[in-house]
Amino acid sequence: MSTAPGTDPLLQPFRLRHLTLRNRLMSTAHEPSYSEDGMPKDRYRLYHVEKAKGGIALTMTAGSAVVSPDSPPVFGNLLAYQDEIVPWMRRLTDDCHAHGAAVMIQLTHLGRRTVWNKADWLPVLAPSPVREAAHRAFPKALEDWDIARIVGDYAAAAARMEAAGLDGIEIEAYGHLPDQFWSPATNHRDDVYGGSLENRLRFIKQVLAAVRAATTPRFIVGVRMVADEDWDIGLSRQEGVEIARRLVATGQVDFLNVIRGHMDTDAALTRVIPIQGMRAAPHLDFAGEVRAATHFPVFHAARIQDVATARHAITAGKLDMVGMTRAHIAEPHIARLLAEGREAEIRPCVGATYCLDRIYEGNDAVCVHNAATGREATMPHVITPVDGPRRKIVVVGAGPGGLEAARVAAARGHAVTLFEAAEKPGGQILLACRLARRRELIGIVDWRMQRLAGAGVRSRFGTYADASDVLAETPDVVILATGGVPNTAVLEAGNDLVVSTWDVLSGAVAPAARVLVFDDNGGHPAMQTAELLAEAGSTVEIITPERYFAPEIGGMNHTLYAAAFHRRSVRVTINARLLSVRREGNTLAATIGSDHGPQRFERVADQVVVEHGTLPVIELYDAMRPYSVNSGEVDHPALLAGRRQDVKRNPVGLFQLFRIGDAVASRNIHAAIFDALRLVKDL
Ligand SMILES: Cc1cc2nc3c(=O)[nH]c(=O)nc-3n(C[C@H](O)[C@H](O)[C@H](O)COP(=O)(O)O)c2cc1C
Ligand code: SF4
Repeated sequence: MSTAPGTDPLLQPFRLRHLTLRNRLMSTAHEPSYSEDGMPKDRYRLYHVEKAKGGIALTMTAGSAVVSPDSPPVFGNLLAYQDEIVPWMRRLTDDCHAHGAAVMIQLTHLGRRTVWNKADWLPVLAPSPVREAAHRAFPKALEDWDIARIVGDYAAAAARMEAAGLDGIEIEAYGHLPDQFWSPATNHRDDVYGGSLENRLRFIKQVLAAVRAATTPRFIVGVRMVADEDWDIGLSRQEGVEIARRLVATGQVDFLNVIRGHMDTDAALTRVIPIQGMRAAPHLDFAGEVRAATHFPVFHAARIQDVATARHAITAGKLDMVGMTRAHIAEPHIARLLAEGREAEIRPCVGATYCLDRIYEGNDAVCVHNAATGREATMPHVITPVDGPRRKIVVVGAGPGGLEAARVAAARGHAVTLFEAAEKPGGQILLACRLARRRELIGIVDWRMQRLAGAGVRSRFGTYADASDVLAETPDVVILATGGVPNTAVLEAGNDLVVSTWDVLSGAVAPAARVLVFDDNGGHPAMQTAELLAEAGSTVEIITPERYFAPEIGGMNHTLYAAAFHRRSVRVTINARLLSVRREGNTLAATIGSDHGPQRFERVADQVVVEHGTLPVIELYDAMRPYSVNSGEVDHPALLAGRRQDVKRNPVGLFQLFRIGDAVASRNIHAAIFDALRLVKDL
C-alpha cells in the first residue's frame, strides 16, 4: 500500500547534528569499480549525481576508499591517500549538493582483506598473521610503527575529504582492519592491542582521535561496524553491542551503521548481504536492538529492497536512516518517485546481485536490468520524448530485450506493437524463475509490462509473427528480439541422445535418476538445472572443461548453488569435456576427455544434459532483411556515440531493421537490455 507523500515517514527529514538529511533514504558505501586511476572521475561522479537528482538524502560514496598504500585496492577502490583525490571529490560533492543530497565517503584500511600482488606490492597487514580465505593473502602482523603510520593515514585521508567539501566520513569496521582488531578470530596479539576489549578497541579509538584532531568539529564521523559476527570464533553479540556503546561514549562518533555477520568467505558474505531467494531484511531487528541499546543514530542496509520494508524500519523505530543500496543501483530515483506519488513506477531491485558479483571478478558493477546505471554519461535513466517524428515500431519477442525495446520506444512517444509467440512475456526469464529461489527475476518482466500498459503499447501474445504479420503493421522500424534456441549439437556423436537445460527447466523432460550435466557455457543455465535436478532427487554430476566451474557466475550467486550441491551431494568434475554419448541398453554411456591430455573416461547415466548457450532464431530476420532500408546493418560508431541510425543500403527499403539480445548471439539479461536501451533511446 502506498502512502501519501506528505505523510510518508520515509520522506521526513533527519537531523544529524547540524546536518539536515532531507529524507530517510541513503545509499550505503559500495565500490562500483568505476574509479579511473583510483580517482572518482566523471563516471563515478555522474553515478552519484543521478541519485542526488533522484532525491536521495545521503550518498555514502566509495566503498572502502583506501587510506594507505599498504591497503592495495582490490576492487577498484578509490585512493584516499593521494592528494589528487581532493579536486575530484570536490566536483562530485558540489554537484550532489547542488541537487540537495549530502555526501560522505567510507574510508578504510583493508587489513588482511586484500591481495599482495596489486598496486605497490607492499605486504598485506593484519593484527595477527591470520589469512582471510576470500582474498588468500598471508598477512604480516602489524608492528607498532605500522600502526602509527596507518592511524596518521586515516587522519590525513579524513582531512582531504573535509577539504573536498564532503559532509563527513564513515570508518569501515566490518571485515577490515579496525574490527580485525576487535574480533577474537583475527586478533591473537598479546600486546596492548590484544586481549581485553579495551585493548582491542585501542586502534579504532586512536583512529577516531586522530581524525577528530585533523578535521573541524562540523565534520561528521560515523562508523560502519559489525556488532555481531554471527560466528562461533568471532565477535559475540554482547561484545559487539558493548563496542557500540563504548564508541558512542567516546563522544567522537556521530552515527553507527550496523552490520551483522562476518565475511571472510563468499558464503559468510552472502549472509551479510543476502541475495535473491534469501530472507529480506534479516538483520533489521538486530540493528534496531543496537539503536535501542545506544539511543544513538543508527543506519543499516541489508536487503531492504522495497519501500514498505523501509517505511517499517522507520515507523518501528529500528533505524534513523535506511540503506537501500542495491535498490538505488536498480532505481536511483526512489525518493523522487515517492514524493511524486509514483511509488508503483519504482524499478525493483530483484536481488540478482549481478552488480556486486561483478566487482569481485574484476569488472564494474552494472545492474542486471538497469543498463543506465554506471553509464549516466551516455544512457538515460529517464527517457525523453522524441523531438522528431513519431514512428511506428514493431518489436518481435517479449523477453527482457524485447520488453526493454518496447518500453523505451513507447516512452519516446512512438507507436509500438509487440509480438510474442508465447502466451506470456518473459522469454528465458520464465525458465530462470522455475527455480523457486530465483523467482524474483520476474520483477524484470512485471515492471516492464506495467510500463507498457501505461503507455498504450499494443501487445499480441500467442502470435508467432511472420513477415506478413510484421509487414501488415507498415512499420518504420522493426526490432527483432526473437532470442535463441539451445545449441546442444556439440558432441562428436550422440547429439540426438541428449537434452537441453531448457528441456529440464521447462519441465518438458522429467528428471531421471542419474544425470550428467555438461556445462560448456559457465553461466546460470547449467547450474540451475543441476540444482533443480538434485532437489528433485536425481543423482547429479556436473562436468565442465573449465578450470573452475561456472566461471560466469560470481561468488555470491555461486554460494547458493554450492550450498544446494553440498546438501544434495552433487559431484563437480572440472577440466573434463563431454565428447560423445551412446546408448547402452536402458542407459547412456558418456565418453569424457579433457583439453589437457588424450585420456578418456566413461560415465553411465540415465540422462545427459548439454548446455552450450543458444543459437539465434533468425528466420524472421532473414525474411525481413530484403524489405529493410539498412539490411539489418547497425552503424556502430553512431550507436556508440548516441546518434540516430541512418544506414541506407536498399533504396526501396520500407523500414529500419535491427535485432538485439540473444537473437544476435547468446549472452545474458543485462546484455539484451543494454542492446535495447542503447539502440532505441536514439530512435
Ligand atoms: C557493488 C557493491 C559494492 C559494495 N562495496 C562495499 C564496500 O566497499 N564497503 C561497504 O561497507 N559495503 C559495500 N557494499 C555493501 C553495501 O553497502 C550494502 O551493505 C549491501 O549492498 C546491502 O545493502 P542493500 O541490500 O541495500 O544493497 C557493496 C555493495 C555493492 C552492491
Ligand atoms: S543487479 Fe540485481 S541486485 Fe544488483 S541492483 Fe540490479 S537488480 Fe538489484
